[in-house]
Amino acid sequence: MSYRMYDLIRKKRDGGELTDGEIEYFIDGFTNGSIPDYQASALLMAIFYRGMTERETVTLTGCMARSGDTVDLSRFGELSADKHSTGGVGDKTTLIVAPVVAALGGKMAKMSGRGLGHTGGTVDKLESIPGYKTDLSPADFLGQVEKIGVAVIGQSGNLTPADKKLYALRDVTATVDSIPLITSSIMSKKLAAGSHNIVLDVKVGSGAFMKTPEAAEELAREMVKIGKGCGRRVRAVLSNMDVPLGAAVGNSLEVIEAVNILKGADSGDLYEVSVILASQLVSMVRGIAASEAEREVRGAIRSGAAFEKMKEWIASQGGDVRYLDDVSLFPAAAHVKDVLSPSAGFIVSTDAEKIGKASVKLGAGRASKEDTIDHAAGILIRKKTGDRIEVGDAICTLLTNDASALPGAEEEVLSAVGVGEAAPEAGPLIYGIVS
Ligand code: URA
Repeated sequence: MSYRMYDLIRKKRDGGELTDGEIEYFIDGFTNGSIPDYQASALLMAIFYRGMTERETVTLTGCMARSGDTVDLSRFGELSADKHSTGGVGDKTTLIVAPVVAALGGKMAKMSGRGLGHTGGTVDKLESIPGYKTDLSPADFLGQVEKIGVAVIGQSGNLTPADKKLYALRDVTATVDSIPLITSSIMSKKLAAGSHNIVLDVKVGSGAFMKTPEAAEELAREMVKIGKGCGRRVRAVLSNMDVPLGAAVGNSLEVIEAVNILKGADSGDLYEVSVILASQLVSMVRGIAASEAEREVRGAIRSGAAFEKMKEWIASQGGDVRYLDDVSLFPAAAHVKDVLSPSAGFIVSTDAEKIGKASVKLGAGRASKEDTIDHAAGILIRKKTGDRIEVGDAICTLLTNDASALPGAEEEVLSAVGVGEAAPEAGPLIYGIVS
C-alpha cells in the first residue's frame, strides 16, 4: 500500500485515526529522510491538537523503538530492570537505586543521559569519579550485568534515531508538551534499551516538566499503559520536584551525597524517594509485594550490601573506589561562597529550575553542547522550603572554579527562594504510584 504524507496530515488534522501502516510509513520515511521536516512538523502539530488513541500511541512507540539498534536483554529473563526519570534538579537516585536493586537480585542494565538544560545527567555525575568509563562495548556491558548485576553507561550506538530527529523538530515547533509525543519518546527509548521491568520517576513541580500532579498523573498513566501494551512491566512513581532532591546539586557533590546514603545516612527526601523507586523495581523483578520489597531495600542499605555493590560496579567500570571509601578525595572547588538570607521568616518556596540554572552558571552543567563540565561545581542547599531562617543565615553554598560565575549564580539563587511569615503547608514527597 502506498501512502502520502499529505493524506496523513489531513486525516489527523480532521481528527481521524492513523492506521498502523500510516504510522510506520511516517516513522520510516522521517527517519530515512524521505519525508521532509515541514510535513513532519505539520503532522506533529495535528497530533498536538488532536491527540492519539491508545492503539496509535502503542504503534508509534513500537515503530520508534525499532527505528535503530535495540538491546537484547533476553538472557536475563524477567530479572532485567531499568529506571527513567522525567528529569529533575539534584536527582541522583540512579546512583542509589541501581546498586540496591542489583544487591537484591535484579539485573540493572542502564543507559543514562547527560545533563539537559537545568537538569543534571547520571553520566556526567559518574564521570566525576576518576577512571569511570561510560562507554563499554556491548559485550562488556552485558557481561558486567551478568557478573555483578549492574552496569551504567552512556547511550551508545544508534538507539531510537527516530526519537532523536523528532525530538529536535518538536523542540523548535512548540510540540514538545503533548502526552502521546512525550510518551512515545520516553517509552521508545526504554523499549529499545530492552529491560523487562521499568520504573518511571515522573517528577511533579516547579523544577519538573510536569508542573501539576494532575498533568504528571495523566502522563504516568499513559506511559504505564503504553509500556504494558508493548509487553513490559511498568510502574510510575509521582515524586515531588518543587524543591531540588536532597541537598546537593552538581556532579561530584551528588555522587558524595549518594555515597553517604549508601553508607547509612538513612533519612531525608532523597533517601525516601530512592527507597520507593528501588522497592517498586524489586517488587516487579522478584514478584513480591511492594511492602516486602521495601523492607528488603531498607535492609540492603542498612547492612552495607548496597554500598559494597556500588563499589563492585564502579570498580568494574574502571572507577577509583578509594573516592567512595573516602569522599574527601574528590577535588574541592577553588571558590566557595555562602548565599546569605536578606530577610527573616520561613522559606515558602524554592524554584528548583532556578537552582538548576544557577548550578549550570557555576559550571555544573552545559549552556551549549560543546561546554565542558566542572565536576566540582554546584550548590549545597542549607535551608529548604519550610525551614525557619534569620537575616544572614546561609541559604546555600555555591562552589565553582570560576569566580566570575559567583555573582550571577547568587542572584539566581536569591530569586529562587521565597520567604514569608508563616511556615507553608508541606506538599507530599510522593504523590502516588501508578501501576
Ligand atoms: N523526555 C524525553 O525523552 N522525551 C520527551 O518528549 C520529553 C522528555
